[in-house]
Amino acid sequence: MIKIENVCKSFGDKHVLCGVNFEVRDGETVVIIGSSGVGKSILLKTIVGLIKPDCGSVKIDDIDITKSSSFDLHETQKKMGYVFQEAALFDSLSIFENVAFGLRTLTSHTEKEIEQKVAQCLSMVDLEKVEHLKPSDLSGGMKKRVGLARAIAYQPHYILYDEPTTGLDPIMADVISDLIINLKEYLHVTSIVVTHDMKSAYKIADRIMMLYNGGIIFNGALEEARNTKNEYVRQFVEGSGRGPILTDRTFGMDKI
Ligand SMILES: Nc1ncnc2c1ncn2[C@@H]1O[C@H](COP(=O)(O)OP(=O)(O)O)[C@@H](O)[C@H]1O
Ligand SMILES: [Mg+2]
Repeated sequence: MIKIENVCKSFGDKHVLCGVNFEVRDGETVVIIGSSGVGKSILLKTIVGLIKPDCGSVKIDDIDITKSSSFDLHETQKKMGYVFQEAALFDSLSIFENVAFGLRTLTSHTEKEIEQKVAQCLSMVDLEKVEHLKPSDLSGGMKKRVGLARAIAYQPHYILYDEPTTGLDPIMADVISDLIINLKEYLHVTSIVVTHDMKSAYKIADRIMMLYNGGIIFNGALEEARNTKNEYVRQFVEGSGRGPILTDRTFGMDKI
């Protein structure tokens, strides 16, 4: 289980996260939505231990990683896959080595097993015969899918996806949504998915949360989000912005 309690993170006087609280139960797929720059990527990076929060705790299976030694943090990170918003591949390494990276550093598979797993993961994201290429040979969408293959290769219990379908065509976006569903169904992966792609969200989400002004302002089922009195949340999930720009007070933006 992932349990986030009172997480805060500021950069100088810019308060990005101001008391974030939520849980993700084992086997759940939780979607996080929110406007650009609201702090979604910072939140995911905090959960995987790439950023240390200023306050609060991040518990992964009851271990607070904000207090872990770097050795223990690394042990916990072995259970977690992270798909960066920008694919963040190693430019000098081949696609094969990029996908094999976690397998080499986190597991003790033989070279033959690594070859099989890399081919399998690349085919899961609909990529073939790209192993020998470099990231610079691929399109943005292809790089994104290599980033996904890299994150799932060592079969983590938890996968955090940062905008996995952004920049992909609708058919490929659907392939990725199905992949997220299959990882949950067959490998019981627990996921947090940051996305603006509401079509994908409707397909994959067990629950949806909205980040706004440093905190979670909605946490519930998608159906609830569609019917909520909070017009900002409703407009976001319906993908329609209309009317004048209203203030926090109009919406009753209370943090949970
Ligand atoms: N390393 C950093 N230093 C200063 N500000 C940052 C840093 N990283 C992110 N920010 C700021 O934090 C805010 C949230 O960023 P981010 O989590 O990337 O937003 P998004 O919700 O679009 O993923 C943004 O305003 C961004 O400019
Ligand atoms: Mg982001």
